[in-house]
Amino acid sequence: MKILVVGGGAREHAFAWKLSRERNVTDVLCAPGNPGVEGVARCFPADPGNPAEALAIARRERVDLTLVGPELPLSRGIVDLFASHHLAIVGPSAAAAELESSKAFAKDFMARHQVPTARFRVCDSADAALAGIARGEFGYPVVIKADGLAAGKGVAIADDRAAAEEAIRVAMVDRRFGAAGARIVLEEFLAGQEASYFVLADGVACMPLSSAQDHKRVYDDDRGPNTGGMGAFAPSPLVTPDVERRVLDEIVRPVLDGMQREGRPYRGFLYVGLMLTTDGPKVIEFNVRFGDPEAQVMLPMLDEDLSWLLGEAATGALPSRPAHFRREPHVGVVLAAGGYPDSVETGKTIEGLAAAEQVPGAIVFHAGTSRRDGRIVTSGGRVLTVVGRGQTYRDAIDMAYAAGSLIHFDGMQFRRDIGRKALVVSG
Ligand code: AMP
Ligand code: GLY
Repeated sequence: MKILVVGGGAREHAFAWKLSRERNVTDVLCAPGNPGVEGVARCFPADPGNPAEALAIARRERVDLTLVGPELPLSRGIVDLFASHHLAIVGPSAAAAELESSKAFAKDFMARHQVPTARFRVCDSADAALAGIARGEFGYPVVIKADGLAAGKGVAIADDRAAAEEAIRVAMVDRRFGAAGARIVLEEFLAGQEASYFVLADGVACMPLSSAQDHKRVYDDDRGPNTGGMGAFAPSPLVTPDVERRVLDEIVRPVLDGMQREGRPYRGFLYVGLMLTTDGPKVIEFNVRFGDPEAQVMLPMLDEDLSWLLGEAATGALPSRPAHFRREPHVGVVLAAGGYPDSVETGKTIEGLAAAEQVPGAIVFHAGTSRRDGRIVTSGGRVLTVVGRGQTYRDAIDMAYAAGSLIHFDGMQFRRDIGRKALVVSG
């Protein structure tokens, strides 16, 4: 089987790494990939935001199956494009990808199908939003979300009316998130702990995968601005068998049934961002793809062939049993460039990669790296994810940090508390 992975981050490196170790996979291709992916796949230059480029590669190279990592090509209809050329691909159509690309669609959809989520109001103008705030209908803090894709930056949590009005102005008047802020969602603040749950769906059936926890804020103890994710661990000890059953029964099943009834059958990975409240699990957001950095910790735990699962998902033949996952916890620490998540300096030489890769059991996944004069240099905000595993969360944390401590580049920053939340719950 010849498989093309679309994307060039650490999540796509983890996909390519997993696929390259499978017996049925003869060839892994990645567009565009990165220097780390080159160790396990053939990389082709491509703009992942332009579905036509991936299509050209898939046709020229005669790939059997394509897997899409990031949300942008999905929201731009890469799956629809491949389907119109009768090429097998795993991911949601642009219509189904609206679960992520429009928070207003996702919220209205959840309301239509009684999926538990925060109370909300969709506002099409700044005046409507300001009027909602003036009525104080959600109390404080109140959550203000830009409707469209904003790379994790379009969400503000406002503690009082002035902060809420400012957040509305930033999104809707200043348009800091561009067209994503043409509509906003006002939302009740949910108290609780956050975890994520993942399934793979084939349009009708769904295979439960497993849970994880991300660390979205840039600094230790969840301080500082939101990022794409500074580290993750899996599984989440908060997602007990009882929580998992509720997530599947109360959220995943109604979502997949509802999408099918509304003519947008959902195929691909579904990432359910959860707040575990005293009223049970509620949806904070959907992502229509695997998480990054969640993929880096979860794919090494998958104890069966990903290529087989993808093939079954692409043809609508996915079994409904849970996927087989190893029980050993995995922890991934993101090494980011100085300045991230704001503007970052690039071109810094990365030292110690080979030494980190030699730590037994540890894996180094590349994201913002590139090759220059025979060296590997930084080329983005999130540069690497270093993954450790162990019998316990403690062991996995120690392995990730032991390997990470061997790597260095100018300005490198990382959180020192990745996985600590798992220790608090699990001892
Ligand atoms: P999102 O981009 O929707 O995942 O939101 C980013 C972050 O904002 C989430 O990871 C939560 O920490 C926080 N958040 C979003 N919505 C809510 C909510 N209704 N209540 C509390 N926190 C929220
Ligand atoms: N880790 C959060 C995301 O992938 O959106």
